[in-house]
Amino acid sequence: MFDSGVGGLTVARAVLDQLPHEQVLYIGDTANGPYGPRPINEVRALALKVMDELVDSGVKLLVIACNTATAAVLHDARERYTGSKGVPVIDVIHPAARTAAQVTRNGRIGLIATRGTVDSRAYDDALAAVPGVDLFQQACPRFVEFAEQGVTTGPEVLRVAEEYLAPVKSAGVDTLILGCTHYPLLAGPVSYVMGEEVALVTSSDETAKDVYRALAKRDLLRGAHAPGPHHEFRVTGDPEAFARLARRFLGPEVTSVTRTGLDPVAASAFHDIGPR
Ligand code: DGL
Repeated sequence: MFDSGVGGLTVARAVLDQLPHEQVLYIGDTANGPYGPRPINEVRALALKVMDELVDSGVKLLVIACNTATAAVLHDARERYTGSKGVPVIDVIHPAARTAAQVTRNGRIGLIATRGTVDSRAYDDALAAVPGVDLFQQACPRFVEFAEQGVTTGPEVLRVAEEYLAPVKSAGVDTLILGCTHYPLLAGPVSYVMGEEVALVTSSDETAKDVYRALAKRDLLRGAHAPGPHHEFRVTGDPEAFARLARRFLGPEVTSVTRTGLDPVAASAFHDIGPR
């Protein structure tokens, strides 16, 4: 699984909890994150490079543990890896949208996400078939900065949360999708500002269920008698900085973090990625 940084660890945590015998190879593209402010073609190119490395490393299933990358590349990833190589690809947008549709009582759903995810309208598409739902969207770019710095509480987070969330709050939503895998790390302040009557929906638990389903369906679950799982964490940026945060956000499963063989992608490379 991969993300631009530490956000995808919220999905990794749920996968490890629900599938304790599986082995996770996680890549944080920290040299190129945040993805949110980048044009969609750049996110697509970056995400394909990371997924190529994961598939070349022999993974049996891919999780795009990032909403922005899901919005940019899900369709291409399924063609490139599932269609031609038989590697299933699990995303985080459809599980979150599905849950929100089940949870809402008044049909008014808020979405907070990166600028890239909001502009892609991927959640509108994911909810298009659900009758009687109105979606109110708000980009919250500074939440990713806070999470990447390990700042998840405090007056500055609260002030920014109040500012970002005012429009969705006044829209009368009863359900708020945390449509960025970094945002559950700020669930305390977000919930405080929205009020306890608003249900917060994150993609992590539902995505982990999709991972289980995809593996079970293909008879790919790792057995309880296999040797203890070995998890691996790689980053394109500074391994030490990532390791400190990853131990806090994920836990003791993070024993070491190494740098990937991937180079930070130069702008000129964004046109080079074609079919494999
Ligand atoms: N965690 C990511 C997401 O779910 C991306 C955050 C970013 O890189 O801007 O959208």
